[in-house]
Amino acid sequence: MPTPRTVFVPAYAKINLTLNVLGKRPDGYHALASVMQTVSLADTLLIRTGESETVSCDVDVPELRSEQNLALRAAHLLRETAGRPLGADIELRKVVPIQAGLGGGSSDAATALTALSALWDLHLPPGRLEELGAQLGSDVPFLVQGGTALVEGRGEVVTPLPDMRPLWLIVAKPAVNVSTAEIFRALAPADFGHDEDTRAVVSAIRRGADLPVEWLSNTLERVAIERYPEIAAVRSTLEHAGASPVRMSGSGPTLYAPFAHLGQAAEVYGRVAGALPQVWLCHTVTRTQVAASRPERQEFSSR
Ligand code: C5P
Repeated sequence: MPTPRTVFVPAYAKINLTLNVLGKRPDGYHALASVMQTVSLADTLLIRTGESETVSCDVDVPELRSEQNLALRAAHLLRETAGRPLGADIELRKVVPIQAGLGGGSSDAATALTALSALWDLHLPPGRLEELGAQLGSDVPFLVQGGTALVEGRGEVVTPLPDMRPLWLIVAKPAVNVSTAEIFRALAPADFGHDEDTRAVVSAIRRGADLPVEWLSNTLERVAIERYPEIAAVRSTLEHAGASPVRMSGSGPTLYAPFAHLGQAAEVYGRVAGALPQVWLCHTVTRTQVAASRPERQEFSSR
């Protein structure tokens, strides 16, 4: 049995700075062009290895305690890939809301994959964790490394982009839960096609220019807002408080507003904090910061 190790690892949420849906694929998924960004809103995984030969996951949210839990499925998948009776006990502390468009479950899975591959000394070839992640969900490959990236295909084609200047963000979740499949199903052919927004944002990030906030966009906003008027109500509260632009993340319902300066973000946050059901002030997290939070860069504590 290997030496027991215990680590705490944050599982950062993501937002979509852009999300263009290009069309429907023969496999039923949609072809995307999206700029994704990890943010400081995060769940925490406490992982213990070296004490058992099975995997388990205890979650502080009862409805996530099942075999379908993505962190647990990630641990099982990695153990099968290794082909050895490796063990891990995971405690998952949820902060990121579920069914929110923030990739919370996907990030738990991506974090379990990266943390366990280091703790179990698997030395997998580059790209293997992303491949395994794609079997668990479309956002998982991006969240293996996080930071800022262009994400294409159904989510599995990830091109890392240079770090942006830090952005402050107000993130607000309207009081509805949204099924991603339902939102994608409701798209009309007229929603498909162009990716100028994504190209413009990618080109500005590559040039090291300020984020062109006028290009932030999300094809899924139209159908999500049509179905859930709560989203428009939260957007309007944020806009009246001085946030601009306000965009939806993923399939929603969560909205975010970017700010270059903490002072501006804090002022708007102060105006909306009491008026919205769930709202956070957070910031962007770079790929380097994500990497620094992972076990291979932490001192292992042994008992
Ligand atoms: O991959 P994931 O399980 O996160 O996707 C949830 C649902 O969202 C899929 O079942 C599919 O209906 C839809 N989806 C899609 N195209 C994508 C990603 C997700 O149609 N690129």
